[in-house]
Amino acid sequence: MNVILLGPPGAGKGTQAKLLVEQTGLTHVSSGDLFRAALREGTELGMLAKSYMDRGALVPDEVVIGMVMERIKQPDCAIGVIFDGFPRTIDQAKALKIEMAQHEKAIDAVLYMDVAREVLLRRIAGRQTCKVCGAIFNIYYFPSYKAGICDICGGKLYQRSDDTMETAQRRLDVYFEQTMPLIEHYRGEGNLREIDGRQDIGQVTEGMMQALGIDIAESP
Ligand code: AP5
Ligand code: MG
Repeated sequence: MNVILLGPPGAGKGTQAKLLVEQTGLTHVSSGDLFRAALREGTELGMLAKSYMDRGALVPDEVVIGMVMERIKQPDCAIGVIFDGFPRTIDQAKALKIEMAQHEKAIDAVLYMDVAREVLLRRIAGRQTCKVCGAIFNIYYFPSYKAGICDICGGKLYQRSDDTMETAQRRLDVYFEQTMPLIEHYRGEGNLREIDGRQDIGQVTEGMMQALGIDIAESP
């Protein structure tokens, strides 16, 4: 199964992707995480991406498409992928469809979450991410037990450099202009499922699992 998580910055794509991976065993592919990993490694790709990310702009299509297509050729993606933050333009969506068709695969569902702009800004302002394991917390909605420390691995929490109010506003504007057309695009393809992203985290996961037609597994 291959699934796209579609929604504005701060909607909960990364949070839900991690929960869906636990439930489904699919592989999480986040274009934003791939860029941040490249930056940590000090690669040219990472430096190039940072120059766009820090302005809240999209990295050019040819760069993103090349990177994600390479990633999905890795063996762990054969089982199926949860795409988070990709595609973000119609050209990216078309490139993904062509690549998947070449391997006799398709996008089975596009889970679209919507959330009001002021809530998105508050979620972004309060987000803290673990430097070590990438777990996502929120000082307002989902705080770690110990301030600044990851509950899961004990790593240090940090705030993303593109999570300033000014950049977050720009990211939202860019989403409305360049990514929202994907909603109608996938509605037209017949695989769009709408989930109410304003609900609490567990309810959103439940809605997604229902939309995928999978029963929620009992926690171990
Ligand atoms: P990317 O890393 O993809 O960021 P984004 O799309 O802006 O989305 P976010 O990661 O900010 O939000 P999210 O939806 O994952 O929310 P989260 O789960 O963290 O992209 C960053 C940049 O990289 C882009 O701006 C661009 O420059 C570049 N880029 C990436 N992909 C690209 C592409 N395809 N093309 C071109 N450029 C690309 O949740 C947010 C917070 O809310 C967290 O604190 C969380 O705990 C909390 N939260 C989550 N769900 C709930 C809930 N239900 N209730 C309360 N709080 C919640
Ligand atoms: Mg994210």
